[in-house]
Amino acid sequence: MSTAYEAFQVFEQEATAAIEAARNVADLEQVRILFLGKSKGRLKDLQSELGKATPAERPAIGQAFNEMKLRVTQLFDTRVEVLSRPESQPRDFDVTLPGNLPRLGREHPITQTIEEFKEIIGRFGFTVDDGPELEDEYHNFDALNIPKDHPARDPLDNFYLAAAKTANGQPILLRSQTSTVQIRVMERTRPPVRIVSVGRVYRPDEIDRTHHQMFHQMEGLMVGEGVTMATLKSVLKMFAAAYLGEDVEIRFRPSFFPFTEPSVEVDVRWRDGWLELGGAGMVDPQVLENVGYDPEKITGFAFGLGIARFCMLRHGIDDIRLFYENDLRFLKQF
Ligand code: PHE
Repeated sequence: MSTAYEAFQVFEQEATAAIEAARNVADLEQVRILFLGKSKGRLKDLQSELGKATPAERPAIGQAFNEMKLRVTQLFDTRVEVLSRPESQPRDFDVTLPGNLPRLGREHPITQTIEEFKEIIGRFGFTVDDGPELEDEYHNFDALNIPKDHPARDPLDNFYLAAAKTANGQPILLRSQTSTVQIRVMERTRPPVRIVSVGRVYRPDEIDRTHHQMFHQMEGLMVGEGVTMATLKSVLKMFAAAYLGEDVEIRFRPSFFPFTEPSVEVDVRWRDGWLELGGAGMVDPQVLENVGYDPEKITGFAFGLGIARFCMLRHGIDDIRLFYENDLRFLKQF
């Protein structure tokens, strides 16, 4: 009787080894024929051991046989499944062919532009600073010398939050300009200051090819002794040349901002056209005083540039809305 159990054990060991050694589905089929085949398989021979058992022995031997058979067939089925997967198939492998590169995503064109801006302006000694997108009226308006009755404060021209107020009950709005960061940086540092801040700003404008209700600005601020309009123009010219190429010109047109004096609109000429890049000017002495700087000792300039405009100019994009539609056919081109 023990011979039957021994025979089962030997069969199981050999069948297991053969199944595990099979390298492909064809190998495995040979193993199946040899061990489990209905007509000549070794399993069939083992079954005859069952026939030799006495009626008393038969239930236990039968059970052992069935359990052993189940283990072997389960292992077999698992291996068939594994070796049938495409990646287990052996194939002719040509090492000279290019590999299958994984398809990676990429950064949004606006993000790419921001990264490049930071890198360029960093070469001129500007570090990157940051401020909140949710602002109080002090930083968005008051400290920037924007009086209470200024039209820029109109609730219809700003996104005021209906559901939240500052700790002392003042209104909160989505910042309408990154100039807020000028104040926040000067509040916490002493001159000299040389920073940029890049981020989103929000205005409830009519959305069209050149306007969106959320857009990106790069604010620049340089404060110290002997900072002039000439410094401002040089920085902007070098910056534009680094981004667009050497063949650029910068033009200032007189303008007005409550927080700069004098104030200018900045245009750049590139290839055949002039493009308005944003506003700039010398930091108003009142603003310097608001943050505790001494306007008798130091001066500064500030600028605020539209990020998308540069990106659109360089790539010939004619509609700002494309940036926010998440159409891969557009985004994949960058
Ligand atoms: N904050 C101004 C705007 O959004 C731009 C600006 C920045 C002008 C800094 C002057 C100085 O239009």
